[in-house]
Amino acid sequence: MIPVFKPKMNKAEILPELEKIFDSGWIGLGPKTSEFEEKFAEFTGTKYAVAVNSATAALHLAVHALGIGENDEVIVPSMTFVSTGLAPLYCGARAVFADIEEDTLCIDPADIKRKITGRTKAIIPVHFGGHACRMDEIMDIAAHHKLSVIEDTAHGCGGRYRGRMLGSIGLMGCFSFHAVKNLPTGDGGMITTNDEGLYNRLRSLRWVGINKDTWNRSSGGQYSWQYSVDELGFKCHMNDITAVIGLAQLKVLEEHNEMRRQVARRYTEAFAELPWVSTPVEKEYSRNAWHNYVVKVPSRNELNEFLRTRGISTGVHYEPIHHYGVFKGDAAGVPVTERVWESLLTLPLFPDLTDAEFRQVIEGIRDFAREAVL
Ligand SMILES: Cc1ncc(COP(=O)(O)O)c(C=O)c1O
Repeated sequence: MIPVFKPKMNKAEILPELEKIFDSGWIGLGPKTSEFEEKFAEFTGTKYAVAVNSATAALHLAVHALGIGENDEVIVPSMTFVSTGLAPLYCGARAVFADIEEDTLCIDPADIKRKITGRTKAIIPVHFGGHACRMDEIMDIAAHHKLSVIEDTAHGCGGRYRGRMLGSIGLMGCFSFHAVKNLPTGDGGMITTNDEGLYNRLRSLRWVGINKDTWNRSSGGQYSWQYSVDELGFKCHMNDITAVIGLAQLKVLEEHNEMRRQVARRYTEAFAELPWVSTPVEKEYSRNAWHNYVVKVPSRNELNEFLRTRGISTGVHYEPIHHYGVFKGDAAGVPVTERVWESLLTLPLFPDLTDAEFRQVIEGIRDFAREAVL
């Protein structure tokens, strides 16, 4: 089967670095995690980065660090992975769903405005598939209503909005290094910010609320046992094993994103002759990270089944998350999301997709059109 996603690992650099870290005697939260944070902040053009064990944890901590809780509302798209909507719930707040733009599948600023109430505290735009949200409009709305913006950049590592790195525009940016993301480490996440106060708070929150991490307490050959815990924190920091993988993967991120871009370009060219396949867009303000390649097609479920019989896996990103029971059936009022998701199909896209695999996907879709008489 051709998978939908497949991680590409920079093994030549990862393997010797793993060997070194195993020999070093320090595999927990330590100097390699700090180095990864520094390099990642530099890459995204932000002052600070805090490494955690997933984007789910990053989003949770970001909402928590803003003091958002009971009776508060956070505006999120429903066209996303469930973690975006869970972040406010973890903090006792409500997720309020805003609709998306039909072409980019990113949150619609006009609907954000409609969903703002006196309880709204933050907006979490998701750069869907690595396509930038309309950040100027979103930041203007947020400034006008005194709301915080947390960019869910899980799909957008290396993507740009008007030349600026995704994840560097809002108050915080949350990244995922999950196995199928653009910078895969297995699992992992990062929060970027320019706010020093938030940075210090996030560092303590990720490490059960302890004000000094173990590495800092043991520097200079001396291990100081003293620390303080002044608030309820969580256990979701990164470790140095993940960090060395992240450092190696960061070096090849742009190259791998370019390989993704080439596959996406070839798909779009091939589908020009199949007008029933609506291909993803790249607006002039976006430089896509091409995390995934999502087409809109009629008979989505049938095409999905047909391709499976041809050895091709596809995915659906996403069923609207407000459908899930955890959101207690909140009436979402997202008509575009409701209509469009039924037609969404994610095709295989990863840096190492071969020519033969590419042709197999295109042929499969052509044959479906012939056999299904679309
Ligand atoms: C949009 C979005 N947000 C958040 C997450 C959560 O990422 P992680 O798996 O690193 O917790 C994902 C992961 O699939 C995602 O796609």
